[in-house]
Amino acid sequence: MSRREIVEVGHPVLRERAREVTPDELRSDSVQRLIDDMVETMRAANGAGLAANQVGETLRVAVVEVRPDNPRYPYKPAVPLTVIVNPVIEPLDEEVELINEGCLSVPNLRGEVPRHMSVRLRYTDREGEEHEEVRRGLTAGTFQHELDHLDGKLFLDRVADPATLTTWDQFERFHRDDFEERARRIVERVGS
Ligand code: NI
Repeated sequence: MSRREIVEVGHPVLRERAREVTPDELRSDSVQRLIDDMVETMRAANGAGLAANQVGETLRVAVVEVRPDNPRYPYKPAVPLTVIVNPVIEPLDEEVELINEGCLSVPNLRGEVPRHMSVRLRYTDREGEEHEEVRRGLTAGTFQHELDHLDGKLFLDRVADPATLTTWDQFERFHRDDFEERARRIVERVGS
């Protein structure tokens, strides 16, 4: 396994729609290695997720993992390592909450993004097994963020009010307490 360079906002690959992975490609050494490298890269950067576009590959592959002690997102419920290939997501109802998000490809910026609180997620895992799951709350938001990457979208595109944009230092100073309280209420109410 090796770490790959994470590309940053402005790189055209972040604006491309990634293409579906065929079953043969999924079994290939190069795609299996890509998945291993994405997991290592995400963990090294303390990310909650990483999409293939972010390491310069336009394939519909993303990884999500939230360890309980994640320093970037201490309020997020834990999510075991989940590798999603060719994922499809649909909201289950109209409920939306503003989530304060950051992104490894958008250094030192966070902002408030409306996200569906209940989604159905269908995907293939790295072995080619199909899954269908319901994800809720902040975890639903994390998966929506990663699927956006595969469609060439960044959280910046979805920030409803640009006045919510903040550096990580100023988030810590002025916004973290409020947001953590909101995050706690979301987790209590809708789970993850
Ligand atoms: Ni991101």
